[in-house]
Amino acid sequence: MSNYQVEPENKPQALTKEALKALRHEQVQGVSRRELLRGSLAAGMGLWLLEVTAGTIGFLWPNLQGKFGGDVNVGTLDTIKSDNSSLPIADGFPAYVSAAKAFVVLVDPSQPRFIPGADLTGDGTAVNVRALYQRCPHLGCKPNPCQKNFWLECPCHGSRYDRLGQKALGAEYGPAPRSMDRFATRVEADGTLVINTGKITLGSLPIAVGQPGIIPPRSATGCI
Ligand code: FES
Repeated sequence: MSNYQVEPENKPQALTKEALKALRHEQVQGVSRRELLRGSLAAGMGLWLLEVTAGTIGFLWPNLQGKFGGDVNVGTLDTIKSDNSSLPIADGFPAYVSAAKAFVVLVDPSQPRFIPGADLTGDGTAVNVRALYQRCPHLGCKPNPCQKNFWLECPCHGSRYDRLGQKALGAEYGPAPRSMDRFATRVEADGTLVINTGKITLGSLPIAVGQPGIIPPRSATGCI
C-alpha cells in the first residue's frame, strides 16, 4: 500500500493570514456591493430627472395652448371695441382682457388702430398699444379703470395710475412703489394683437402729476 495521497483540487484552505490577504485582493465574482450602490444611485437619479421633466412639461403645456403664461391672441382693435361696447376704448380707455390678465390700452387714440410690429418691452409706442399686467405693484390687487378720470385706481390701498399704467408720485396717490408692469406684445399684419404674458417688464418709477410722462386725470375726483 502506498502512502501517496491525492489532495482534492477545491479543498478549503485554512484561514491563515496569507489566505485572508489573498482573498481580499481576489477579483470579486459577479456584481460587487460598490457597483450595486452605483447602479441604484444612477437609477434613482434617472427616475428623479424623469419626474422633473414630466412635471415641467405638464406645467408648461397649457401655455403652449395660448393661455396665461404664453402668447395670448387678443384680436383686433375692432374685436376689443365690440367686446367692450359700453366703454370708450377708442378714446384710450383701458379694456380688460381676462385671458391675458391684462388691460389693453390704445397709446395714441388719435391713431385708431394697432400698428403691426413687435414690442419686446411692452412700451407700446411703436405698435400703438400697451398691455398692462393686472397686478398692482404694491400688494397685488387688481386696479379698476375709472371712466370719470380715465385713470386706473387700486381699490385696496388707493394707488393711482394714469390710463397707460404710469404711477403718480406722492402719498396722496397711494403706496405703490412703481408703475404697473407691462407685457411684451406683437401686432400681426392684419392688426391682431398677441400679448406675450411670459415676458414682463417692470413699471417705471412714479412721476409727479403735471410733469411730462404722466397723463393728467380728466377730473379732479376719481371713482374711489
Ligand atoms: Fe394696490 Fe395696495 S395693492 S395699492
